[in-house]
Amino acid sequence: MPIVEIAGLTKVYDQQKVAAVDGIDLTVERGELFGLLGPNGAGKTTTIGICTTRILPTSGRVTIAGVDVVAQPAQARRNIGVVPQYNTLDRSLTIFENLYFHCRYFGFSNAESRERAGALLKQFLLHERAKSYPSQLSGGLQQRVQIARAIAHRPAVLFLDEPSAGLDPQSRIAMWDAVRRLREEGITVVLTTHYMEEADALCDRLVIIDHGKALALDTPDRLKTTLGASTVVELDLRHCENLAPLSEKLGAIPQIASVETTASGLRLFAHGTDGLLPEIVRAAQDYGVRDLSIDEPTLETVFIRLTGRDLRE
Ligand SMILES: Nc1ncnc2c1ncn2[C@@H]1O[C@H](COP(=O)(O)OP(=O)(O)O)[C@@H](O)[C@H]1O
Ligand SMILES: [Mg+2]
Repeated sequence: MPIVEIAGLTKVYDQQKVAAVDGIDLTVERGELFGLLGPNGAGKTTTIGICTTRILPTSGRVTIAGVDVVAQPAQARRNIGVVPQYNTLDRSLTIFENLYFHCRYFGFSNAESRERAGALLKQFLLHERAKSYPSQLSGGLQQRVQIARAIAHRPAVLFLDEPSAGLDPQSRIAMWDAVRRLREEGITVVLTTHYMEEADALCDRLVIIDHGKALALDTPDRLKTTLGASTVVELDLRHCENLAPLSEKLGAIPQIASVETTASGLRLFAHGTDGLLPEIVRAAQDYGVRDLSIDEPTLETVFIRLTGRDLRE
């Protein structure tokens, strides 16, 4: 049985005309590290909010370990850990107390709560900070406390909403390691992100979401191979007035699978790189190429293919 099942999920907020979540179906298997990748406003936080009983769906159904989150929210919450998009540590409590009271809230005894909080402080290398207050910790360390607190009651699934938002690159890498270790412990992790590198580096499988709809769902590698090209070439042709003849010329090169127009020139999808560059340079020499870059397809390219837009826009 999948640990998370989302079926026909929609959410229309009051006074909104368009659906924030528009018919999402997906399942997450036990032990998976699953990602929701999409730009701001895609509906990621709303989806997570429904899964974690914070937001009521307009229609559709979510079950966590077989428990319906709308029908049995209290029971569902026992299986769920959440790290919201914004820091929700209690600023009037020490790090130890933040962990301790979370355990008490979930029904652990005084002794169990002390023991669990102590164990988490060790596991997340926070024991020297036990008596500190959240405001005395860096953003990266506070994030680590939030993750420790979220798994304190031993949930089956941990939901992380934009876990690296606002973190410096070093803290981001540390957070990735912490998340990977959770998976090794058997905790299922569902995270949202708008960073394609993060989704690529972390996720076993991911769904690309835009305007509340799931556009594609697979492993990062399989998503990238669906492009049907192993090489992506970007040509900067911003001073070229008419791209059509060049586009046609390039499209006729057998190795080039397809050509599309971008804001600054052309993007070519090709098979392999052997002998490709000289051919492109020869074809484009009279069109004022200012720059040329070659890359493997990324999730960014997949997103552009699916939506016609840049993930960063
Ligand atoms: N409480 C709310 N009331 C009305 N509209 C909302 C509310 N929360 C989110 N939205 C809208 O729903 C859409 C999806 O938002 P959200 O789920 O936060 O996306 P994401 O997390 O992917 O950035 C956006 O258009 C956003 O403006
Ligand atoms: Mg969000």
